[in-house]
Amino acid sequence: MIKLIIHGGFFSESSQSQETKLAKQQSLSIIAKQSYEYLKTHTALQTIVYAVELLENDELFNAGIGSQIQSDGKIRMSASIMDGVSAKFSGVINIEDVKNPIKVAEKLFTHDDRVLGGEGAISFARANGFEKFNTELPQRRLEYEAKLKSKGMGTVGCVALDAQGHIAAATSTGGKGFEMVGRISDSATAAGNYANEYCGVSCTGVGEDIVSSAVATKIVTRVTDGMSIKQAFDKTFTELKNIDGFAGAIAIDKDGNIYHQDSHPMMVYASYDGTNLEVFN
Ligand code: GLY
Repeated sequence: MIKLIIHGGFFSESSQSQETKLAKQQSLSIIAKQSYEYLKTHTALQTIVYAVELLENDELFNAGIGSQIQSDGKIRMSASIMDGVSAKFSGVINIEDVKNPIKVAEKLFTHDDRVLGGEGAISFARANGFEKFNTELPQRRLEYEAKLKSKGMGTVGCVALDAQGHIAAATSTGGKGFEMVGRISDSATAAGNYANEYCGVSCTGVGEDIVSSAVATKIVTRVTDGMSIKQAFDKTFTELKNIDGFAGAIAIDKDGNIYHQDSHPMMVYASYDGTNLEVFN
């Protein structure tokens, strides 16, 4: 049994067109199916990187190409991976000028120092052959010039369960848009991306809320301690709503149960099990 779910942040009926909604549905469907095919012959850890790289390359989503611009006019991205088997986490925080932050996070996986930020992350990327790449789109510059803040509309992620029963999770983001320089996203923290042998979770939404509620960590811990994946989500999202938090999350448990929930309409996601394709609507 292999399982896979991906997300591409949020869709807002009020600020995005139906055309964009359709395009996101289509893109997530294709990437979910393509990643599922990949999972047939690769591990969960390899597949989550593969899926998130595809999402980072897709201009529709706020990660990699298409990332939002911070208050000083620069793009800084964050990404992480977590392997449920070895319980190892690696990531980059506020990295600049690389095409695929998730690939840098993957490269760090075998190192002792596995989470790097800012200049250190950029130097590590260059030393490891990641060429300078500008991920800015003209549309993002226009939004920046209009000083548009998009409340947690971005972030991409993937959770996979492979044929060996191993779970892994990956998350990548271009941030909130127009944030203060130095702001840390949840996406390369255990609150936004977490996995163990029982469950894996990737989050999207407002990083501050996700960190305050430790969303991914709580869900995984609750499943580990015996709650069903639904109970774990319900309790965690009740607590998130108590602080008026804005977030969504996707997950898979060791038995292959796929789950997702959001605090606000609507997180965009797609899951595929070889037969059934479920896409947000
Ligand atoms: N969830 C992405 C961020 O807040 O940066």
